[in-house]
Amino acid sequence: MAFEIIATGKAVPPHRVTNDDMAAKVDTNDEWIRSHTGIGARHFADADTACSDLALEAAKQALIMMTGDDREEALKEAALSLDMIVLASATTDYYGCPSTACLIQDRLGAKNAAAMDITAGCTGFIYGLETAAGLLGINPGRKRALVIGSEILSRVIDWSDRGSCVLFGDGSGAVILEKTDAPSQGPDRRGLVRSILGADGSGAQHLVIHRGGSRDPYKTDEVVAVSPHLAMNGRAVYTFAVKAVADTITALLEAEGIGIDSVARIVPHQANARIVQAAGKRLGIPDEKFFLNIEEYANTSAASIPIALDELNRSGGLKKGDLVMTIGFGGGLTYGGNIIIW
Ligand code: ACO
Repeated sequence: MAFEIIATGKAVPPHRVTNDDMAAKVDTNDEWIRSHTGIGARHFADADTACSDLALEAAKQALIMMTGDDREEALKEAALSLDMIVLASATTDYYGCPSTACLIQDRLGAKNAAAMDITAGCTGFIYGLETAAGLLGINPGRKRALVIGSEILSRVIDWSDRGSCVLFGDGSGAVILEKTDAPSQGPDRRGLVRSILGADGSGAQHLVIHRGGSRDPYKTDEVVAVSPHLAMNGRAVYTFAVKAVADTITALLEAEGIGIDSVARIVPHQANARIVQAAGKRLGIPDEKFFLNIEEYANTSAASIPIALDELNRSGGLKKGDLVMTIGFGGGLTYGGNIIIW
């Protein structure tokens, strides 16, 4: 039994905001942003677009790739074949209830699918993939899962903090994970073969949306001076992230008993190119091994890895049998990685 990614999709809002556009609004400049992060642009959703809207589009793209048929009836039929929808996000449509996965389930007409959200910050997609594989594996009646990472981070940006507001973008990525008869061991193994999931909750306050939860709810008649936003301790997250990336790559290689030469591509969470380069340097891994598209999309949190997988997949950057490593880190604090035989 194997858990194979059989299709991918992505959706990014059309509104592209360059570093120069940001500089018109905030005291920053293209040179600082590029040299400190590798970011050149980000895409921001319009006011009417919520997390589920982007997620729905990414899901449709993945279902169309799966069937090779973009007709409405084919999409409906494909949606009925889903047994589960797992959506990772820090910027869901609603606070706590209902899950955004349930909104996708309804809008796709995926009547046979269970649906739930996962909160694991930027590591959400990695957690989501492992969760979906576990739930498919435990029940013979389940075969196919839709796993989505989707974010509208533009809605929780702190515009008064130039150190964080330049980092984020909006987007969504999706994969279809299918339980197949392919082997998961041996030379012909396929699919998701290993994951590492970890957390260090002692760093919870380094990436946090303070207001609106049960710890500090909005009060009746309260006038909110500042809209809810993500507060970040950039230095602390940076230090955590470099170590998390380096340690997770090392742990995955050791667990598999392989060297870095056996890895076709590493798809890291796209938070900051410097984090990836610093971890790569620490391990002696060449930059080319890492797939980076942060220049165009900035940090889309839980969406960044599935967006990158879709871009690699559609551009022919992944061949059947390639060993792909995903590496993530983020709010929680959380970290993790998957090994996928494409
Ligand atoms: N434009 C121009 N100057 C700036 C900007 C900006 N946008 N932001 C900060 N600066 C200035 C600072 O004011 C400071 O100036 P000073 O020396 O005169 O005081 C100088 O640049 C250096 O600032 P630092 O904050 O020390 O910059 P640093 O090199 O640490 O980089 C950064 C900051 C890019 C945020 C880095 O710390 C980082 O990448 N951290 C990790 C972020 C991350 O991965 N977040 C994940 C969040 S994902 C999630 O879970 C949603």
